[in-house]
Amino acid sequence: MSATLGQTEVYSLLSLSLACFGILANTFHGDGEPLIASIAFSGLAFSICYALVRWLGNAFMQRGFKGRDLCKLKKTEIPETMGAVAALVYLFILVIFIPWPFYKDIVAATSGGGNRDVMKELEEVETGRLLHRFPHNKLASYLSAILSLQSIVLLGIGDDMFDIRWRHKVLIPAVAAIPMLIVYFVDFGVTQMVVPKPLRPYLGELFDLGWLYYAYMALLSIFSSNSINILAGINGIEVAQSLVIAVLIVLNDILYLSPFAPYPHPATDSHLFSLYLLLPFIGVSLALLMHNWYPARVFVGDTYCYFAGMVFAVDGILGHFSKTLILLLLPQGFNFVYSAPQLFKLVPCPRHRLPHFNARTGLLEASRVEFKKPLSLPIAASLKLLHRLRLLDVETDEKGQVVSSSNFTILNLWLVWFGPMREDRLALGLLGFQTAVGLLGLFVRHRMALLVFTADNW
Ligand code: UD1
Ligand code: MG
Repeated sequence: MSATLGQTEVYSLLSLSLACFGILANTFHGDGEPLIASIAFSGLAFSICYALVRWLGNAFMQRGFKGRDLCKLKKTEIPETMGAVAALVYLFILVIFIPWPFYKDIVAATSGGGNRDVMKELEEVETGRLLHRFPHNKLASYLSAILSLQSIVLLGIGDDMFDIRWRHKVLIPAVAAIPMLIVYFVDFGVTQMVVPKPLRPYLGELFDLGWLYYAYMALLSIFSSNSINILAGINGIEVAQSLVIAVLIVLNDILYLSPFAPYPHPATDSHLFSLYLLLPFIGVSLALLMHNWYPARVFVGDTYCYFAGMVFAVDGILGHFSKTLILLLLPQGFNFVYSAPQLFKLVPCPRHRLPHFNARTGLLEASRVEFKKPLSLPIAASLKLLHRLRLLDVETDEKGQVVSSSNFTILNLWLVWFGPMREDRLALGLLGFQTAVGLLGLFVRHRMALLVFTADNW
């Protein structure tokens, strides 16, 4: 990969950055206009990430961060772990952004209602700067989000450097979630769940999950990060699926913030918070995708997958819409459940399960796992049943013994269903499917929720 930017790229990135700086300089006239500032920062995040991914590629290769593109005729080595660049740009942007959402409050808290000329009463001077007016709880949420994301990035880079074992990997996000869970505990602390109508006679209207609610949130972080990492292996799919999820959450946020939504809505602030976390994420991810899309010039590494999953978990939990988030993660959830027989070693799991590249046709086919030892009866029978349901491609020998099957991922299942295809067609197909499921999920969430719950919180 050429390590320099072309002329058009330089001009486009420069003009985008200048426009964003201009917008930022203007935000200080009013209340800080945090949403506008956040959009401008996301544009900056895009430009910086785009340029850095290009400039740093060779340095990463020299340090050994490289991988072979397995689905190509020439299996060339390209930089790996470039998601770390995206994640770091993102974190710095979040940190620099801190003054904006709190600008109004900082002014109010430091000058007695925004009026700096007022003579201060002695009492007020002694309590300092009327700090009680400042929304410390919101700042704490924001800082805990940054801290959780920072931990996951550190741990992700560790994994990319040392290939941590699967059973240890799983726990990484749970540890990273601690700062956010503590703030949730101290600040919000709601561990009750609204009970669906049919269950109300037994459980009442609200059911207190207590500490289980914290376990649920930790599990959500584990699930969200790891499920993105195992829906991986073809160019662009890790980043593009994350972008689809992010854009769908933004859509959901906009439903609460649009001029047509009732205002002030109790959820306005948490959905603004969600946007502040997601817009820069979209910025860096787009820049990364432009280098990772077919034919990929860089790989994103496990760092990106963990980081993206954690952004969603933090966003959903601190933004109080974790159930909506689960709806948007349904394709990843299906892939996870479908993968379970291999993940939990009921059937062998090769190191790589990504589709197989057929050098003769140039197309991807479902990759297969061979069963050297005969499978136990119930497992062989289950595989045959899955084959009959068209959920797996199983090969049997003349004695009826199962000798091989397609690997248990939706990437391979897609190829079993629709036949061999080029790498980018496969990615686009799955992304289209994911978008459709996500939109349907949101529709169900907002239109049908009334059937199961008495009130939609919209
Ligand atoms: C996960 C999957 C594994 C899959 C791998 C691909 C499970 C349990 N693990 O493992 O089955 O093969 O992701 O990312 O489901 N690569 C490509 N093209 C791409 C992306 C990756 O060829 O578009 C290859 C490259 O050689 C790259 C390597 O995959 O170096 C990265 O694999 P890694 O992320 O380390 O695998 P895992 O996350 O452990
Ligand atoms: Mg990976």
